[in-house]
Amino acid sequence: APVAVLLGGGSAEREVSLKSGATVLSALKSLGCETRAVDPADEHWLEQLQGVSCVFNALHGPGGEDGVMQGALESLGITYSGSSVLGSALAMDKQRSKQLWQGIGIATAGFELLQSDTDWQAVIERFGKVFVKPACEGSSIGMAPASDAQQLRAAYQNAAAYGTAVIAEKFINGPEYTVAILGDEALPSIRMETDNEFYDYEAKYISNATRYHCPSDLNAEEEAAAAALALAAFKSLGCEVWGRVDLMRDSDGRFYVLEVNTIPGMTSHSLVPMAAKVAGLDIAALVRRILELSWA
Ligand code: DAL
Ligand code: MG
Repeated sequence: APVAVLLGGGSAEREVSLKSGATVLSALKSLGCETRAVDPADEHWLEQLQGVSCVFNALHGPGGEDGVMQGALESLGITYSGSSVLGSALAMDKQRSKQLWQGIGIATAGFELLQSDTDWQAVIERFGKVFVKPACEGSSIGMAPASDAQQLRAAYQNAAAYGTAVIAEKFINGPEYTVAILGDEALPSIRMETDNEFYDYEAKYISNATRYHCPSDLNAEEEAAAAALALAAFKSLGCEVWGRVDLMRDSDGRFYVLEVNTIPGMTSHSLVPMAAKVAGLDIAALVRRILELSWA
């Protein structure tokens, strides 16, 4: 039976997912698998899943990565890669992820939920510079920094257009790190360095000027701390199989969790394939391992 690769979809990260899906398709082909590409934005996608018993889900963002598709596949009796419904839903929601982490003492930057009647000045007085983010988006879509009340209000209005809750998160200067998770293990951390104001969509997918350091500059003790924090954050949300945990390191050397991605990008610029390579897994071996862990 063919392995279907879900790609594209209707979220703001559609273009990223098309690239991730293409990577996964070619990896599966190199493993000798019969494959079928299925795009849930196509009105015939359900018919295309006929005869399929397992799926590699390469969708990003709401509708594909947030538990909705996972629930549909469960109902259809189709085995799928990655986290199941709960972990997917919680990880997509930055507000609830962070509330959960605050409750169990996992370090995450302070934040506030923004609403149209928020006292913008009070938020700036509480946190200083903040990052404004749609609570349920990926790839930095809809994100902007804000250092005063006027910028905060404008950033809120921009982020609210994505139709999800909006949070303001205390700005941590960084550098930014990410830790890929495969099964019960953390892969070597990556440090990202951009000339943009932050590691935004352009820096992630378009720029060839973004620098990636893997192995990163962390010593063994710091690497272990980053790995332990990433694994704890991942497991606390009920996530499984694979993912990527984004971290900021403050000037005091402490790490703070930004978010967990349950279907991280698999594009040519993406981070999980980079970390896997350093750990000795090429893209085909990585995809195979994800499927083995998912079917287990
Ligand atoms: N949301 C993008 C795909 C990532 O985390 O890699
Ligand atoms: Mg994300």
